Amino acid sequence: MTRITMTVDGAQVSDDVEPRMLLVQYLREKLGKTGTVIGCDTSNCGACTVHLDGRSVKSCNVLAVQADGAEVTTIEGLATDGQLHPVQEAFRECHGLQCGFCTPGMIMQSIDLLNENPHPTEEEIRLGLEGNLCRCTGYHNIVKAVQYAAREGASS
Ligand code: FES
Repeated sequence: MTRITMTVDGAQVSDDVEPRMLLVQYLREKLGKTGTVIGCDTSNCGACTVHLDGRSVKSCNVLAVQADGAEVTTIEGLATDGQLHPVQEAFRECHGLQCGFCTPGMIMQSIDLLNENPHPTEEEIRLGLEGNLCRCTGYHNIVKAVQYAAREGASS
């Protein structure tokens, strides 16, 4: 077992974990943060996307021990004081979801995209989200949600 300490959604956590434990397993199984979901477990679908020191990563592709000392933000850490993050609000406003399974990862990736490029073109949005798969919507409303968020000045 290896001792790890990190900040997750603003709270410091510390645990002994197996070195082979994935970050997504740590978040879900040890911390109960089931808002971060597992779609493929092979770094293809993006459903498990979280922010690691401010950048999006697929948490099924990161070992928990690799996040030692880092700051992790999950979908559950976005809303503050009962207010949705502007990108969450944009997805709600544009109905950028259907079954909702891909939504946590889509939102985390969209925030990273908008932080890097606050005014992306449609093509840049589609490219920026290419690592996140949706099997319901055909992506149209997801793209509209990111465009809406960009118009509203959403980032960070
Ligand atoms: Fe991590 Fe699919 S569960 S990319």
